Amino acid sequence: MKQRPDGASRGGGHAATFDLEGYLSARVALVERALARSVKAPDGPASRLSEAMRYSLLAGGKRLRPVLALAACEAVGGVLGQAINFACAIEMIHTYSLIHDDLPCMDDDDLRRGRPTNHKVYGEAIATLAGDGLLTDAFRVAASADDVEHVPPSVIVATLVELAEAAGSDGMVGGQVIDLLGEGHALSLQELEELHRKKTGALFVAAVCCGARLGGADEGQLHALRQYGQALGLAFQVADDLLDVEASTACVGKRTGKDAERGKATYPALLGVERSRELARDLVGRAHAALTSFGERAAPLRALATFVVEREL
Ligand code: IPE
Ligand code: IPE
Ligand code: MG
Ligand code: MG
Ligand code: MG
Repeated sequence: MKQRPDGASRGGGHAATFDLEGYLSARVALVERALARSVKAPDGPASRLSEAMRYSLLAGGKRLRPVLALAACEAVGGVLGQAINFACAIEMIHTYSLIHDDLPCMDDDDLRRGRPTNHKVYGEAIATLAGDGLLTDAFRVAASADDVEHVPPSVIVATLVELAEAAGSDGMVGGQVIDLLGEGHALSLQELEELHRKKTGALFVAAVCCGARLGGADEGQLHALRQYGQALGLAFQVADDLLDVEASTACVGKRTGKDAERGKATYPALLGVERSRELARDLVGRAHAALTSFGERAAPLRALATFVVEREL
């Protein structure tokens, strides 16, 4: 799966010259600086907790969810300052989900973002609490108005509700439960889609829709971006499942080949590699199609959708 930074692909056509590499490095740098300010430096009797939170949060990662939030904000004419706190919050929630996903009672992994998993370094109790800390602090960050320019409080409240729904028992957490209970069972295509939409898709939809809300999106724009986020989120997890089959541990910074070992319900397991890849590409086409009314301002979103399925990490 080669990345095509120009973002040109099926259903695209607008963004033939878009420099995704340049865009990503600028937005990721912004997110990294803001994230470093979002979690306090180790100090006092619970300094081990801050250390553990920072260990996973500031360990790199593609930062796709925060970048998508910023790109959606820009696509509706907003400015980055309106979405940066939310962008940090969603990356904090994503990082908490990874720390818990790696615990021995869940996927039992020892490598994440190219380094030992949180519990391998800090132990299971602190790793669990580091996840709890990131999840809870994320809502303080998302609700904080410090850097938020010209965003009405009602819009901030709407983003908090959407973020909680996406991360919670009917979103990512619910999806993780279906994933764990599904180990060793054959799911139907419909059940597998629901699993992926919840455990992974929900946070992508929230990233895009909340970023757009904060940038001043109207209902029509939100509707289109929800379609985009749903297609992209599902495509992302199909690509993750394919990487688990095809990529090397060194490339993705986490152990590969483990889904089959654990009998996980995945697209390659159900459809095979080729049909899964076709599905991922078809979903990117759907994501691009949802952006037709946005014009050039959505060039980053178009290129990011292509990147999601063609990435090698
Ligand atoms: C991995 O997400 C977990 C899934 C939802 C499949 P990412 O691939 O976005 O992980 P990082 O943030 O880049 O480490
Ligand atoms: C994780 O899915 C989804 C989360 C909510 C964290 P996976 O279990 O496939 O993610 P990786 O492959 O460990 O990153
Ligand atoms: Mg998992
Ligand atoms: Mg896992
Ligand atoms: Mg995976």
